[in-house]
Amino acid sequence: MTTKRYRIATIDGDGIGPEVSQAALRVLKTACGDMLDFDMLDGGAGHYQKTGQVLPEDTFNACREADAILHGAAGLPGVVYPDGTEVGNDLHLRLRFRLDLYANVRPVKLLPGVVSPLRGYEGGGIDYVIVRENTEGLYASRGAGVLLRDEFASDSLVTTRKGTERVAEFAFRLAESRNGALSDGKKRVTVCDKANILRSYAFFRAICDEVHQQHPDVAIDYAYADAITVHMVKRPEFYDVIVAENMFGDIISDLGAATAGGMGISPSGEIGDEHALFQGAHGSAPDIAGQDAASPMATVLSAVMMLRWLNDRHGDPRLAEAADRIETAAGRVLSENIAVPRDLGGNARCSEVAEAICRALG
Ligand code: IPM
Ligand code: MN
Repeated sequence: MTTKRYRIATIDGDGIGPEVSQAALRVLKTACGDMLDFDMLDGGAGHYQKTGQVLPEDTFNACREADAILHGAAGLPGVVYPDGTEVGNDLHLRLRFRLDLYANVRPVKLLPGVVSPLRGYEGGGIDYVIVRENTEGLYASRGAGVLLRDEFASDSLVTTRKGTERVAEFAFRLAESRNGALSDGKKRVTVCDKANILRSYAFFRAICDEVHQQHPDVAIDYAYADAITVHMVKRPEFYDVIVAENMFGDIISDLGAATAGGMGISPSGEIGDEHALFQGAHGSAPDIAGQDAASPMATVLSAVMMLRWLNDRHGDPRLAEAADRIETAAGRVLSENIAVPRDLGGNARCSEVAEAICRALG
């Protein structure tokens, strides 16, 4: 058995970021013992206010050298660049683009004990994954759009063959590794686009079709971005893996999160060929920052995704075992009402939820 240790670059960030990040670290240390070493790194809107840097070069270099990155949240209201865009988001986007984290993986999974706003759906009744292209689409224009004489602004939607091939390949391989959609057990990739209207999306779909040829055991399905919002509410059990352009993925992943208990329990993994960043899909929630009131669940479940990704890369069963134990412990804390966070109808504090998960691990 290997005794390898893994270096995790950790950026607490802003708002509730430090609270949820530290809660997740506490759970990771309890489950993983001395397998993980943590680099605590500066970054975010608060750091920008003090230093003028949202992502210090030291932080970026440590993230690039680490085995994985775990992030709390970033962004503070009113801390914006002269063009009006948010500083905190820039931390995130710089890491995404500079580390080429092209697959933003957003599981939509209703856990036992968690109430969905969709009537008739209980724990286990919703289980699919949104794979959002994370390095181009409409986001390729961030910081590059046209702003003219305070009367004209435009951003372009960029679809490249490489960018689409690799995110589609990721989606089909993910579908091959899953057990298929809940409704029929079929391994399926649904391409979410607006190919009926825009050539960029018709190009996206055509490349997904090409990639599908290499994955005959996975069914391909198509849904326009407007229509899929209806299906995600009316028949979520049909979905297995959804692949979408950046902006569409950003939008439908929040809808998916809402159907599975909300942003406070929705994890994410932003994955490239060499690096990966894991964080809850929520934001920095400054309105409840510093009150120990946030739920650490999304960050804890993102840490589970991180351990599984590390196991995929290093083939270290200790990581997979720790991931399973944390996921089971977190699930028990919710399903047995041991410590239910406020966003899920309970009154447990952030630190209490983390403590309960650690006890359940024990
Ligand atoms: C997300 C967020 C980010 C995005 C922000 C924080 C840059 O909304 O990760 O979904 O727009 O992608
Ligand atoms: Mn978003």
